[in-house]
Amino acid sequence: MKIGTAGRAQAAFETAKGLDKCAHARIVRPRTVMKEQIASVQAEALARIGGIADMKALEEARVAVLGKKGTLTQLQQGMKDVPKEDKPAVGALLNEARAAITAALDARKDALQQEIDRAAVAGCDVTMPGATLPGGGLHPISIVRDEAVRILRRMGFTLADGPEIEDEWHCFDALNTPEDHPARNEKDTFYFDSGKLLRTQTSTVQARVMEKQAPPVRIFCPGSAFRRDAIDATHLSAFNQIEGLYVDKHVSVGDLKGTLEYFLKALFGSETAVRFRPHFFPFTEPSFEIDVLLQAAGQAPRWIEIAGCGMVNPAVFENIDKAAGKRLYSDCTGFAFGIGLERLAMIRWGIRDIRLLIENDIRFLAQFQ
Ligand code: DAH
Repeated sequence: MKIGTAGRAQAAFETAKGLDKCAHARIVRPRTVMKEQIASVQAEALARIGGIADMKALEEARVAVLGKKGTLTQLQQGMKDVPKEDKPAVGALLNEARAAITAALDARKDALQQEIDRAAVAGCDVTMPGATLPGGGLHPISIVRDEAVRILRRMGFTLADGPEIEDEWHCFDALNTPEDHPARNEKDTFYFDSGKLLRTQTSTVQARVMEKQAPPVRIFCPGSAFRRDAIDATHLSAFNQIEGLYVDKHVSVGDLKGTLEYFLKALFGSETAVRFRPHFFPFTEPSFEIDVLLQAAGQAPRWIEIAGCGMVNPAVFENIDKAAGKRLYSDCTGFAFGIGLERLAMIRWGIRDIRLLIENDIRFLAQFQ
């Protein structure tokens, strides 16, 4: 006949105790035997767990006692052979044993984890100051651009944008630049095989804005422009400008002068002297170059060219209206201006070589933070 686990355990227990199988077995009550077996499994498990020094051995101990074939689990399976009246008491003992062993396993696991954590930082001085990572800062071009944008916004100008890859219409034709103008030469402009080009000026945005919206217009556009210039101390082939355009009824040269003087004084200081010199641009008539009187440390004051500007050439308005097929701009007047941002930064900080602005040398850039 097959005997249950508890029966087998009981027999083993009795043998171990030197009990006579025939004579005494019958008088030892199963409940007492189970009780002792549970106590011994528990005591053994707790002793084993207490001496465990690594996580792997701890897991092995858990499986050996609480696992599917573990010693306590086997005792639990013997419950079915325990007489009915003893089941509650034995069951309670089993539960207590499992709880005590589980608690001991958890406690040992925590203690081992702490040891592992402590070993991981052994030799570290946690009171030492941390390594400081250098913080980034804005590029000088971004700094002057943001300042210029702030002032223009304050005067009621809004942001406009246009593509860097342009067509000849927006870059030249709409802006009254004749076919034979030197700026249209292949030697001066980056052309694509498609006939498109990298815009040589942000003035393209003037045409883009006017063909999209009716007057009045009061916009600025910061952006990159490109020319086939050999790179030297004062030239880059990719550079940055801010374009401005103001169009309405009855805009005068007085508006142009007042607006740009205010703008430049806000940028360079209220004492700054500003002068307008006659010049030529195809898209403005009259046109001017603007100089500001600046004094570098230890030098006599000098007039320095800072921007181009002028009253929008009526030919530009006609081009826009002709393309749109309606008369929107032909009755307007307006002014436009373009400022080189690299130049602005160089004047502002006395930078002698424009190439410093594109080399990304931290020693140079860190000076602007
Ligand atoms: N586009 C000119 C340049 O790149 C600058 C300029 C001059 C812009 C006069 C203007 C202007 O809007 O009116 O050199």
